[in-house]
Amino acid sequence: MTTSSPKYLQEDNLSEECKKLLSILPKDKGWVGSYIYNYQGFWTPPRFLQGVIAFQQQFQAEDSDIILVTTPKSGTTWLKSLLFALINRVKHPIFEPNHPLLVNNPHVLVPFLEHDLYIDGRVHDFSTFTSPKLLATHVPFASLPKSVQDSKTKLVYLCRNPRDTFISMWHFTNNLLLHHNDTNSIEEKFDLFCEGVSLYGPFWNHVLDYWKKSIEMPTKILFLMYEEIKKKPKVQLKRLAKFLECPISTEEENCGVVDEILKMCSFKNLRNLEVNTNGRFSTGEAYNLFFRKGEIGDWKNYFTTNMSDKLNHTIEEKFQGSGLKFSYV
Ligand code: A3P
Repeated sequence: MTTSSPKYLQEDNLSEECKKLLSILPKDKGWVGSYIYNYQGFWTPPRFLQGVIAFQQQFQAEDSDIILVTTPKSGTTWLKSLLFALINRVKHPIFEPNHPLLVNNPHVLVPFLEHDLYIDGRVHDFSTFTSPKLLATHVPFASLPKSVQDSKTKLVYLCRNPRDTFISMWHFTNNLLLHHNDTNSIEEKFDLFCEGVSLYGPFWNHVLDYWKKSIEMPTKILFLMYEEIKKKPKVQLKRLAKFLECPISTEEENCGVVDEILKMCSFKNLRNLEVNTNGRFSTGEAYNLFFRKGEIGDWKNYFTTNMSDKLNHTIEEKFQGSGLKFSYV
C-alpha cells in the first residue's frame, strides 16, 4: 500500500510491533488501501490501527473531556462544528467576525484522537489544550481506553442511516482514490459493507453498542441521529447543550444564539468558506471532500431494489428488539 495509497494512509511509519500484529490479524480487501484489518472486532486500515493502539495505551481521560464518537461519514464534520460553536460560545461569541470556525476546518478545531493526535504512534502532549478538551474518535465503545469508559468524560455519539452512510463512504473513498486513477465498484463495496467490512465496522455493532450504553448511562453518552438534527435542529442543539451541562438560556435564545450557531454550521455556510473550499490537511487531502451533498436520502440515486432488500434484511436482523429505528427520508 505504500506507494499507491493516499498519503494519509501510507504505512511508512508503522512500528515493528504494529507490523507484527498486522501479520496475525484477519484482513480483507481495503476501501482505500490494499487491506483493512480486524482488530478487537472492528475493521481499520493499518496506519489508523497504530493510532488506535497509541490512543488506547496513552490517553488519560479527564472528567471534563468531551469526546465525539461517530462511524465514518455519519456527519462528524458537522457535529464537530456544532460542538465547537456551542462549547466555546462565551470565549468566541457566535457573532464574532473572526470566529475560529470561519477560518479553520472543524477537524482542526476538534481533532481525532487516533487519526491526528496519536497517528503513527505519536506521544501527545495536551498541555496546550484548554478545558474542556473537545476530541473525536471512531473507536467502538469496547475498545475505548478504560479511563474514557470509567471517568465522567462525556461521549456524544452521532449515527446516520446506514444507506446514506454507505453512499457517503463509497463516494469519499472513491474521491481519495481518484488521485490514484482508481475507483471502487459500488457492488463490491456494498457487499463488503453488508458483511460488516467497512471503516470501523461492522456498522451495526458500532451503533448498537453505543445505543445500548447510552440507555444504560444517559448522563455519560448522548445518542444523536443525523436525520433528527436535520429535521429538528433547534431541538437537538438544545438537547446537546443540556447534556453537556451548558444549557442555552432564554436570554441567549432570544438573542438568536441558537439560530446563529445553526447558520454558521450549516452545510452551505461551511462548504462555501474559503478555508473549506481551498484548504487541505497537511497530508494533502482537500477539506472539501468532507462537504459533498449533506442531504438525507441520496441513497435513492444509487440503490437498486436488490441492494435495498439486502440491507433492510441485515438491518432488521441486527437491530431487532433494540428500539432503534432509522429514517431514510
Ligand atoms: P454526504 O457524502 O452524504 O454528502 P463525516 O463528516 O462523518 O465524514 O460525514 C460526511 C458527511 O456529512 C457528508 O455526507 C457531508 O456532505 C455531510 N456534511 C458535512 N458537513 C455537513 C453539514 N454542515 N450539515 C450536514 N451535513 C454535512
